[in-house]
Amino acid sequence: MEKRASWASKIGMILATAGAAVGLGNLLRFPVQASQHGGGAFMIPYFLFLLIMGIPMMWVEWTIGRMGGRYGHGTTPGIFNLLWNRPLARYLGVLGLVIPLILAMYYLYVCSWTLAFAFFSLKGSYYGLNDLKSMASFLHSFQGIEKGYFHSILLAYLFFIITVGANFFIMYHGLAKGIERLSKVAMPALFVIAILLMIRSLTLGTPDPTHPERSALNGLGFLWNPKFSELKSASTWLAAAGQIFFTLSLGLGTIQCYASYLREDDDIVLSGLTVTSLNETAEVIFGGSIAIPAAVAFFGIAQISKGGAFDLAFLSTPLVLTHLPLGQLWGFLWFSLLFFAGLTSSVSIIQPFVSFLIDELKIPWKRAVLITAFIVFVPAHLVVFLLKYGFLDELDFWIGTISMPILGTIEIILFAWVYGIDKGFEEMHKGALIKVPSIFKFILKYITPVCLITLFIIWMGQDGVNVFLLKGVPTEARPYRLLARGLILLTFFFCAWLVYIAWKRRQNEI
Ligand code: ALA
Repeated sequence: MEKRASWASKIGMILATAGAAVGLGNLLRFPVQASQHGGGAFMIPYFLFLLIMGIPMMWVEWTIGRMGGRYGHGTTPGIFNLLWNRPLARYLGVLGLVIPLILAMYYLYVCSWTLAFAFFSLKGSYYGLNDLKSMASFLHSFQGIEKGYFHSILLAYLFFIITVGANFFIMYHGLAKGIERLSKVAMPALFVIAILLMIRSLTLGTPDPTHPERSALNGLGFLWNPKFSELKSASTWLAAAGQIFFTLSLGLGTIQCYASYLREDDDIVLSGLTVTSLNETAEVIFGGSIAIPAAVAFFGIAQISKGGAFDLAFLSTPLVLTHLPLGQLWGFLWFSLLFFAGLTSSVSIIQPFVSFLIDELKIPWKRAVLITAFIVFVPAHLVVFLLKYGFLDELDFWIGTISMPILGTIEIILFAWVYGIDKGFEEMHKGALIKVPSIFKFILKYITPVCLITLFIIWMGQDGVNVFLLKGVPTEARPYRLLARGLILLTFFFCAWLVYIAWKRRQNEI
């Protein structure tokens, strides 16, 4: 049997975990969430949830991950079984396989758009397009949603294959030689490119003297001026909680999996805090200071408030950059930044399923990577070809907004209540370089689970039924939305079956 993999160095492991956290969520999702939910006011629940959910859950996931690794388990079925020795625990842990598998199917596709647009920037393909409408047609025709600049979806499919290939090629080389090496190059590159773009964006001034209100500074104001009335809406609080989970990769199965490759006495408290700080710098500083100030400087606030997440990244930002000297290079840098951020996250999203095959079904690393590639790649075709029916959005809603907080809630209850908060804290502090303040025992046991459950109940009351019944979804899109839900259910039963097989084999061996 293969020896279980391990990280080659501490810095490599921290960069890989920071790479998992820093992703498209920081640079695309955050600025849009913040500006849509009250600007500076959004930051109040955001920072509150960072403190009572993000930081403590990060410590919990590192703790249970390292503990799982000690017994040869890198994924939640095995890890939950250690926290609670009941078959139900393993089946609750199945969520920690389904969530990353489904996320990988669409995250890889979005990541491939950034690669394609890096290429289009260098080639100057979208040069000469002057308004957001033509840029949107360019993007949509690339995605096969409408006819126009591209004859078919073939080019998008080609970039998708290249992105899938790059991910699995890296992973095929193993943890230290693949993922860790990638992170050691991509993460510093990402920070350098982000700083360059941030300086460029904040020094744009007022490009059009006839519109003095269109300035980078007003862009910052737009993002940060608090609209306190938004705090009355539950959706602002839900959005802030969801963003904390998404950006820190919590409730995803990834952090536990990366932590399972640590040694028993490796520090996790300071490391967890370091990763959280790196991620928050990338999110609040870079995420808030590139796309929005640049777009406001050129198009004004009215245009920006209308747009969604992709509008900023794929429409306004590249358009802004074409107006600058060396525009092609700036565009290339912007999309390379997104691609690096996406790639270091996508490998981390794929890793849990690979680790499950290795740890629980005793499949060798390389073969496990190839099997996972097949399992992700085949259903991902539905995401590519059914994009216009909202297939991707449906998956993202059930995975990003609903399932991740559910997995987080299960995890916290198992850790704080079933395993026991005192035992859990003892485990957390093995090899720790700093001490976690004792107040976090109280937070983890009471505040975090109560907040999560309350948020969930509020959501059910406000939107739950409408979402279940597909209210507001166009009739022609409904079958595809249901198909997306079917895919999630099918993946769940498939993973539950694998868990059943793995433990049955184990029992037979005893
Ligand atoms: N944490 C990753 C991101 O922000 C998933 O994109």
